[in-house]
Amino acid sequence: MIPKPVGRRELADVAELLNAAFAKHRESMHFSADMLSVFAGWTWRLPGHSLALRDRGLQAVAMAGQRPATFHGMSLSVVHVGPVGVRPDRQRRGLASTLLRAVEDRAKRCDLLTLTTEPAYGAHRLYERLGYQVVERYRPSVVALGAAGWPPVEAARLSAGAFWKGASAHDGRPSAIVENTASAPPHVPALGPRYLRVADGAVATIDWPVVSRTGGTRHLKSTQVIAIRGPRRARSAVVHAAARAARAAGSEVLYSLPSVAVEHPRLRPTGPVVLRMAKALTPKGERALAVAAAWDEVCPAP
Ligand SMILES: CC(C)(COP(=O)(O)OP(=O)(O)OC[C@H]1O[C@@H](n2cnc3c(N)ncnc32)[C@H](O)[C@@H]1OP(=O)(O)O)[C@@H](O)C(=O)NCCC(=O)NCCS
Repeated sequence: MIPKPVGRRELADVAELLNAAFAKHRESMHFSADMLSVFAGWTWRLPGHSLALRDRGLQAVAMAGQRPATFHGMSLSVVHVGPVGVRPDRQRRGLASTLLRAVEDRAKRCDLLTLTTEPAYGAHRLYERLGYQVVERYRPSVVALGAAGWPPVEAARLSAGAFWKGASAHDGRPSAIVENTASAPPHVPALGPRYLRVADGAVATIDWPVVSRTGGTRHLKSTQVIAIRGPRRARSAVVHAAARAARAAGSEVLYSLPSVAVEHPRLRPTGPVVLRMAKALTPKGERALAVAAAWDEVCPAP
């Protein structure tokens, strides 16, 4: 089997493969063609860096997308990898390794490869063997919305375009690799994208389905804060607005990365440990990783 690009028409098959691969994990995202199409047109820009192995149907995929980023005055070209999945009956035969090497070959002119994983998956051993190192270890915030009692906040709805063209995403933290996602994600109504403005801040959220396999197979509706715009002082109000809107839409949990949650007392880091791993491909990438090694939090990417 030779790695070949993933095309936009295959998203339903990719979702089916990823759901089969991730079924062994206790709680994981439920992948749907709708959800994957957000990334297909936004960060992955299919066909691009995402590769698949086929043998009478899809056997393994490594999704990946190139993103411009800045860090300590350096402009970086980052290829973010994931999700990676292999059919359960084809695992441990080198398929993921083959795909990840091929993704790397195609990213040769880029500075860094990054990926996000959980120690509980065990896949970090594979990534380490391929030269990735852990640059960040954190717990995202996963807050049950039922009893949160979020106080009222006046929020105005924004269009996606107005949000993504709005104020800079970066609040001046020198420790963050800031990925530059200037364009709007595609509007997929099934995922309930919401763009809200509160005073001088704004927040973007998307509703993801999550499968909880703890004691059964239950679909949880989870709202992820994907981006915040505006100054740091606006964070509290926009997070409140996001939580209230999520609750009103029937979401059970609010999920945010530490870059969003860290400033908010309600958003305690209670989720499973997440590892951000990276591999440098150029001297500039090496320099960025050397600096990043000195920080606790390096990457606020969605
Ligand atoms: C992780 C995964 C992509 C590896 O694919 P693969 O084709 O089996 O990987 P390879 O054969 O190239 O390498 C195997 C290595 O992966 C790692 N690995 C960790 N858990 C594994 C598992 N349950 N099954 C297979 N490999 C696993 C090990 O390091 C293993 O090496 P070892 O056999 O020497 O221990 C695959 O197991 C999978 O789809 N898992 C479910 C989805 C997932 O967890 N994806 C990664 C999330 S970031």
